[in-house]
Amino acid sequence: MADAPQGVGRRTVLKGAVGIGAGLALAPVVAIAQGDQASARPREGDLLVTVDDSTLKPLTPDDIPLASAPTMAWAMEPKERIVRSGSRLNRVLLVRLDADALGAGTRARAAGGVVAYSATCTHEGCDVGGWMPVEQMLFCECHQSTFDPRDAASVVDGPAPRSLPALPLTLVDGRLVVARPFTARVGVETV
Ligand code: FES
Repeated sequence: MADAPQGVGRRTVLKGAVGIGAGLALAPVVAIAQGDQASARPREGDLLVTVDDSTLKPLTPDDIPLASAPTMAWAMEPKERIVRSGSRLNRVLLVRLDADALGAGTRARAAGGVVAYSATCTHEGCDVGGWMPVEQMLFCECHQSTFDPRDAASVVDGPAPRSLPALPLTLVDGRLVVARPFTARVGVETV
């Protein structure tokens, strides 16, 4: 009679230990999964948030000043609100321009006049954060490469070997949403 409760007790303890062990094992897995999401490149359906916004407010076209210096942003996975800031190559620049002034290919990737490009210069990887207000050109301060945001961020001047990859956008419920992945590999040219 005395053995039965002891046996049950042992099984209960063992089951509890297994449960605790599984919990401990799952925690890092979840953390790794979130880390992967944070480092993954922007995906279709992602929202956009400014790089310094701890409230994670999804951006709309009105949040981007017209014909002004680029707004720096991250893509954000919408369900778990995981900001894809785990890789600096995910940094995105947003510029709002007169939609009629955009080239056809660029207009097709814009939403509400907002165009998005990789903020990583294709020359040596500096952030492209400069703005030439008269010419309405993007500018990399490291070696003065200039990119035209109305024309697929093509190189207008300087040593950059190729355009900034574009991040196609669309509007969903008035918010800027990633429509497709980057149009090209982000980062510096290695060939
Ligand atoms: S890193 Fe941008 S021009 Fe050199």
